[in-house]
Amino acid sequence: MLDKITVVGAGNVGATTAQRLAEKHLARTVVLVDVVAGVPQGKGLDQWESAPIEGFDTRVVGANDYGPAAGSEVVVVTAGIARKPGMSRDDLVRTNADIVKQVSQQIKATCPDAIIVMVSNPLDVMCWVAKQVAGFPRQRVIGMAGVLDTARYRAFLAEALNVSVADIQAMVLGGHGDTMVPLVSYTTVSGIPITQLLPKAKLDPIVQRARNGGAEIVSLLKTGSAYYAPSSAAVQMVEAIALDRKRILPCAAWLEGEYGLSGMYCGVPCKLGRGGLEQILEVELSSEERKALHASAEAVKQTMGVIAV
Ligand code: NAI
Ligand code: 2OP
Repeated sequence: MLDKITVVGAGNVGATTAQRLAEKHLARTVVLVDVVAGVPQGKGLDQWESAPIEGFDTRVVGANDYGPAAGSEVVVVTAGIARKPGMSRDDLVRTNADIVKQVSQQIKATCPDAIIVMVSNPLDVMCWVAKQVAGFPRQRVIGMAGVLDTARYRAFLAEALNVSVADIQAMVLGGHGDTMVPLVSYTTVSGIPITQLLPKAKLDPIVQRARNGGAEIVSLLKTGSAYYAPSSAAVQMVEAIALDRKRILPCAAWLEGEYGLSGMYCGVPCKLGRGGLEQILEVELSSEERKALHASAEAVKQTMGVIAV
């Protein structure tokens, strides 16, 4: 168990993340920080009042400043505005870059040894903003997207095959956008290649639905974007770090030549433990998958070009 985890942004993703962290006993204290007066305090208190029922001792506290967050070992950043219908993730870039810059300066000042788990969109570019502003090594700035995109892909496959989600192993790489790359060649059902169980005509629409997973929820909710699965995904990453589990998860990592890419964040298989990003695994990709990964990386680079850091 860690001593303190901070969640910046007490909106849909942030508040749900805080509650899940507490319910999993991952830290003695979970601090919720938001700019809106009263909201993090109110949500923190409400969550703490659920502790006797849920059976956790984690104190959840809210604040409008970073004083209570000082010394946090992990900081999950969910601050920003969420996508509205018709808005691409990239439309968010300028507004959220300013917010993430300000948040990263505060993290650097108050939690200099923290591991940052970025959630704010556009995800890969916000990871870069945080890394640049905080000045942390790549081991300590990691992005959540691949775990969520993979969970959506696994859920749709389990539904199509009428099997347990637990038996679907898969990995979605690339940037968190329409160009993400579900790796069909690494998708198995308890070790059985997916291509032996589903014909291409059924598999292709599932791959496409996974790519469109965020937009599908936005079009249903109309006033915001997904937060139950995103908070689960962020907490899975924090759990791997807090409990030093050495999990292999698809995460956005700063690349320095891996997969022929460098100077950018992109989703790749990562080992997460108490050191944060402990290793990037380079796996063999088909030429089609490698081409798709590079196209996705190019889309991230283009969005990086929209802002100056
Ligand atoms: P939300 O609008 O419910 O919450 C955002 C919160 O950030 C608000 O409470 C707002 O007051 C706060 N905020 C704004 N500026 C701040 C600042 N400077 N410091 C602290 N807090 C600040 O939005 P939601 O649904 O929680 O989404 C949050 C972010 O996460 C969005 O950018 C969204 O696109 C992104 N997201 C990313 C996913 C991923 O897979 N990486 C999945 C789901 C959401
Ligand atoms: C999602 O994939 C909006 O990026 C967010 O749900």
